[in-house]
Amino acid sequence: MTDYSMIHKPVLLEECVDLVAPAVSRAGGIVVDCTLGLAGHATAFLAAAPGAHLIGIDRDAEALAMATQRMRDAGFAERFTPVHAAFDELSDVLDGLHIRHVNAVFMDLGLSSLQIDENERGFSYAHDAPLDMRMDTSQELTAERVLAEYGERDLERIFRSYGEERFSRPIAREIVRRRAADPLATSHQLNALVDGVVPQAHRPAGNPAKRVFQALRIEVNGELDKLARTLPQAALHLAPYGRIVVESYHSLEDRTVKTFMNQGLHADVPAGLPVVPDDAQPFFRALTRGALKADDEQIAANPRSASVRLRGVELIRPIPPRFRRRLGDMAKDAVRDAAQEARHGADGKGRRG
Ligand SMILES: C[S@@+](CC[C@H](N)C(=O)[O-])C[C@H]1O[C@@H](n2cnc3c(N)ncnc32)[C@H](O)[C@@H]1O
Repeated sequence: MTDYSMIHKPVLLEECVDLVAPAVSRAGGIVVDCTLGLAGHATAFLAAAPGAHLIGIDRDAEALAMATQRMRDAGFAERFTPVHAAFDELSDVLDGLHIRHVNAVFMDLGLSSLQIDENERGFSYAHDAPLDMRMDTSQELTAERVLAEYGERDLERIFRSYGEERFSRPIAREIVRRRAADPLATSHQLNALVDGVVPQAHRPAGNPAKRVFQALRIEVNGELDKLARTLPQAALHLAPYGRIVVESYHSLEDRTVKTFMNQGLHADVPAGLPVVPDDAQPFFRALTRGALKADDEQIAANPRSASVRLRGVELIRPIPPRFRRRLGDMAKDAVRDAAQEARHGADGKGRRG
């Protein structure tokens, strides 16, 4: 039998189980794992909550097939529904399954180790491969196209916002200067270009192109917009005392999660108002104090956990109608605060400036 934990070690597994399982401990409880991956978290949720059913979403067909096999191996096939979809289709997925309410929604953002290790997808700076980076290989936008088609200021914005890259401007300039004569098609070429731009004295630990690769991956897969559209859909489908638990690995992801959760954690009234009306009362309870991080021991055992931020909330009262309307709008709207801020921080222009 495959040892899946050798392929992908789930991050903060115990903590996630402690946050998710109580919400689905009653018979018939439903948990949606929006980022099924290799089902490391998912199998642990089902083991901890024997009456629960899990809907596992992943847009990577290969991961989904492996997770399905793992569920069979673990004897959970009857309690598991695999769905090949992007997680921002959550409402449609639940509608399609005739499910109105779920007890927990879990997200473990980013890539699985399987994807990182798959050289031909070009996610990794450590291997020479075509600059693809699509999690869903049926979409058109690839990293190669971003590098070939985006304007200099948009490239700079992406590298700065999504990669927190200090040298985003000279890197973007160099890409645009060189690309007509020498289009960037492989990770090796991109590595070499960044290597030539970032001064020796300012190199981060590891590969100097690490941040540029991360930024391209976030852009190619529209990760922040999808996250911002998914969280309100999750909230709108929560049963009473349902929980949303999210692990993010990037400050903009975490900011998106935090901003979203804060809307339900605080009374929606001007400071100092003596009485808080019913429809402005908080509807979430925080399950974590701020964001939970991995400790040194966990990081040593699983380096992917170094940047994790884990947040969870529980629905403690029905979401007031005006909030429901707001969440409905947010679920449709691709633009959310963190991305807007990031965009305005650069050139404030559209995507292909
Ligand atoms: C970090 S892995 C999850 C690992 C999983 N928790 C485990 O323990 O095996 C993230 C997974 O989410 C998937 N994913 C990322 N963005 C997605 C999206 N927008 N829609 C659906 N799946 C997505 C990736 O394909 C990947 O398999």
